[in-house]
Amino acid sequence: MSILQFKKNILITGGAGFIGSHLVRLFVTKYPDYKIINLDKLTYAGNLENLKDIDSSDNYEFVKGDIQDKDFLADLFTKKAITDVIHLAAESHVDRSISGPMEFILTNIVGTANLLDTAKGYWTELKGHTFYHISTDEVYGSLGAEGFFLETTPYDPRSPYSASKASSDHLVRAYQHTYGMEVKISNCSNNYGSHQFPEKLIPLMINNIRNKKPLPIYGTGENIRDWLWVEDHARAIDVIFHKGEIGETYNIGGWNEWTNIALVKHLCSIMDKKLELPQGESAELITFVKDRAGHDQRYAIDATKIKKELGWEPSIQFEEGLEKTVDWYLNNEDWVNAITSGDYQQYYKKHYSS
Ligand code: NAD
Ligand code: DAU
Repeated sequence: MSILQFKKNILITGGAGFIGSHLVRLFVTKYPDYKIINLDKLTYAGNLENLKDIDSSDNYEFVKGDIQDKDFLADLFTKKAITDVIHLAAESHVDRSISGPMEFILTNIVGTANLLDTAKGYWTELKGHTFYHISTDEVYGSLGAEGFFLETTPYDPRSPYSASKASSDHLVRAYQHTYGMEVKISNCSNNYGSHQFPEKLIPLMINNIRNKKPLPIYGTGENIRDWLWVEDHARAIDVIFHKGEIGETYNIGGWNEWTNIALVKHLCSIMDKKLELPQGESAELITFVKDRAGHDQRYAIDATKIKKELGWEPSIQFEEGLEKTVDWYLNNEDWVNAITSGDYQQYYKKHYSS
């Protein structure tokens, strides 16, 4: 089928990463009449292994490229006749943004601006094309013990990562208000599931328990995150892309708050069971380390709007999802070993020894 015969030619950026690969798989399998063009730079976080089950599909194409390169983007939009964008490509790890913010500014802010401006230049008539930015709850800042982030909560980003995502959200809205681009934004809480790079809390802890390494808990471990199954995030993106109102923001979350220490202890007990260790053995690896600079205390999403207006809600319980996640990592040691053999080792040593 030629590219012009598809109903839409959707550019998904960052499709080789954690959330992007789940989203690409969902769209490629669910929508055979859409062509999915996955644009990814393949940084340390991008891995085509994540998509090997669907990469020979007729409606899928991978393009290696950098959203920091505007000429490349202009050429890509023309060659692939891009009709819509779902933008996930980003530097995504808060700790890396603290040790090296510039790449976050270049990819997350300049890269998003490049995409917006390329789309505006290519879509001669802006009506009928969607530019959808996948953002984070971290733009809202940090909560105390009470309350939730609403779509109307003022932005108050604290880390270079969250400030870069907030900037890109503002740029997306500016392209709607100024030029009439048909944009959507969603701000999601912490995702977990298969194929997440093992620098993030859950896969890092699983991998370290497997290798009998210390489990570094920042500060007191009382910081709170709201965890969502990654495939539920992909389903929410699908619903927003198809049914969400143009110009609207939707918060996506799991109604599932855990302190880091309670979560890691729970993970330890699942790992003891899976590895047939005496209960309590994995938890002995827990090590309290220096806190993350500017560590946000609590994130919690009020996901009422997306439920009421679009009928989306999380599909699986955390306990079930966490066990599935553990099983996936234990059954995919090769994936973990391959992905951690690059620059990550150096990063981990430097970070953990500080
Ligand atoms: P990830 O780090 O796993 O993947 C990011 C992908 O972007 C990688 O494949 C990487 O190669 C690609 N990429 C990075 N720089 C690029 C560039 N300059 N050009 C092209 N591709 C580039 O991230 P993730 O956790 O899957 O997050 C995806 C998106 O969702 C991000 O925008 C992130 O801010 C957002 N988000 C993540 C979470 C979460 O819990 N992980 C929650 C809410 C929102
Ligand atoms: O809230 C959404 C955000 O969630 C996304 O926008 C980010 O892309 C994603 O990385 C995630 O950010 P966090 O900083 O919350 O995730 P991380 O897994 O890095 O950390 C989760 C919590 O665990 C946080 O409070 C810091 C703590 N932590 C993390 C690591 C890696 C530790 O205590 N020890 C660790 O080794």
